[in-house]
Amino acid sequence: MAALGLSWVRIGEFAWTHLEPTPGNLSFDWLDRAIEILGGQGLKVILGTPTATPPRWMLDRHPDMLAVDRDGQTRGFGSRRHYCFSHEGYRQEAARIVTMLAGHYGDHPTVQAWQTDNEYGCHGTTLSFSPSALAAFRVWLQERYLSIDDLNEAWGNDFWSMRYDRFDQIDLPNLTVTEASPAHWLAFRRFSSDQVVSFDAIQTEIIRKHSDRPILHNYMGTELGFDHFKLGEGLDIASWDSYPLGFLEDRVTADDDHKFRFMRQGDPDYQAFHHDLYRTVGKGRWWIMEQQPGPVNWAPYNPAPLPGMVRLWTWEAFAHGAEMVSYFRWRQARFGQEQMHSGLHRPDGVEAPAADEIRKVIEELPDRPDVETPVGDAALVFDYASAWGYQTQPQGASFSYFDLVFTWYKGLRRLGLNVDIVGPGFTDLAQYKLILAPGLMAPSAGFLSSLPSFEGTALLGPRFGSRTPDHAIPLPLPPGIPDMDCTVSFVESLRPGARRDLGNAGSYINWSERLEGTATVTLSDGDGFPAVMSNRKHHYVAGWPDDGLVNTLLGTACAAEGIAALSLPGSLRTRHDGMTRYLFNYGPEAERFDGLEIEPAGVAFLSL
Ligand code: GAL
Repeated sequence: MAALGLSWVRIGEFAWTHLEPTPGNLSFDWLDRAIEILGGQGLKVILGTPTATPPRWMLDRHPDMLAVDRDGQTRGFGSRRHYCFSHEGYRQEAARIVTMLAGHYGDHPTVQAWQTDNEYGCHGTTLSFSPSALAAFRVWLQERYLSIDDLNEAWGNDFWSMRYDRFDQIDLPNLTVTEASPAHWLAFRRFSSDQVVSFDAIQTEIIRKHSDRPILHNYMGTELGFDHFKLGEGLDIASWDSYPLGFLEDRVTADDDHKFRFMRQGDPDYQAFHHDLYRTVGKGRWWIMEQQPGPVNWAPYNPAPLPGMVRLWTWEAFAHGAEMVSYFRWRQARFGQEQMHSGLHRPDGVEAPAADEIRKVIEELPDRPDVETPVGDAALVFDYASAWGYQTQPQGASFSYFDLVFTWYKGLRRLGLNVDIVGPGFTDLAQYKLILAPGLMAPSAGFLSSLPSFEGTALLGPRFGSRTPDHAIPLPLPPGIPDMDCTVSFVESLRPGARRDLGNAGSYINWSERLEGTATVTLSDGDGFPAVMSNRKHHYVAGWPDDGLVNTLLGTACAAEGIAALSLPGSLRTRHDGMTRYLFNYGPEAERFDGLEIEPAGVAFLSL
């Protein structure tokens, strides 16, 4: 590792069975030795807490610690993440092993950072319908609503005679005859997110008592189960696990042509979206904890990256402000579930292709100053609670909150803009010339009250302000934008292929809204109905824009704000830090920019 030029190693995240082979018998010798060897080579260790993989004996102690799925089936032992976040006994076990580990390694000179658990939410593990979850949910409800009458009122429980007399009558929202109340589901999702946050807080509190090293967690791509902004408040750095080829097959919504074209490169915007998101979650500090080095094992198809892509992904992360990029994994494992997952070495220890690309990045690094992350050209609001609201009541099979936000993000990237993704608590609007809040379901009072004095361009909607925090339709009717007389009079979802034509400007797809009011109509549909209504430079966008409409609206916004937009060839992406422009060619053929030819999977650095 040292010879390759690496400086950080993450270890121990699944090692509980070795750390404590039988209950109470701790065995740290092997890890002491490993850390000594790594430290002896000048490597720094990120030590993982092993709570994602409790040993088999743990189930003998806590047979009811397993999570239960939505159908009421217990999720068994034999893989990983086999625990329910709400189980008190398991929380204590987690606290116990973290106390031992932090006590032993807290000030070890080689242990320079901590990772809590591993990929919270992975394998659909945020929601658990266990008896422990039920008990904790009732307590959570009582704390949130204080009285059962207030809960009945907030949830609208007169509907279908659903009123409760006491908190201990409330069950989890699965296994109802038909859909449970959306307010019930939304409350359960909020609760489940809070359980992840409080589980993590148990660990961070203990680690901080023993260690002053930074603590982080490795987040995932499109993981919407818990509020990352809230979890991130308790951590020092955000990190995420970036698997561009797996995600393209597994998580990105796109047609076959797109997936075919980018199958060896990954979606050109998906990584960047998460870089920009986790930079905010990490309050400015973020790392890549796991970078895909070659084929993975878990997507429907697992192609090898185009030569050069491991270097490109690494540089793209640095360009977005990553302080560190680490690769998963050092050596491909011969056994177990991930034996088809490549690493920097083959199972026989011989180097795999990624190693050379990493060597190249390490050679290039000294010539490049650390990247700055200036305030972006645009701020795009991302809100986990909105995702939960629309998961609960999508009102259209193609309505995905993530995809709606990502549609706008891709539009901003087509123009070569730097984007900051911000959380729903965002109120510092004045820093930006352009802000976007698509689908923001229940905007905070702070955000709403900052809008009137915001002098830049705001693109709000669709479904902006469409629900209260308890998932009721607000009155007066949405969107409730201050100083804008505009009301959504009805909404409709559109099947794939259907569109609402806005002439040359583009179309609405998936989702469309009818507007009324006296605000200025800035765009109309073919039938003369308002499609965008505006007050000064604040615009309500009454539908899900196709790419053409995104281009139209962003083009107008950039012109109004004097934001210099680029015209980038289709597969080129860029970010700049005021001194250097980084260019990334995601395409399988060479692209030209500013007289420069950039090879497939190539990276270029332009001084500004
Ligand atoms: C992540 C995880 C790793 C490994 C990897 C495979 O989800 O943190 O442990 O499973 O994916 O791509």
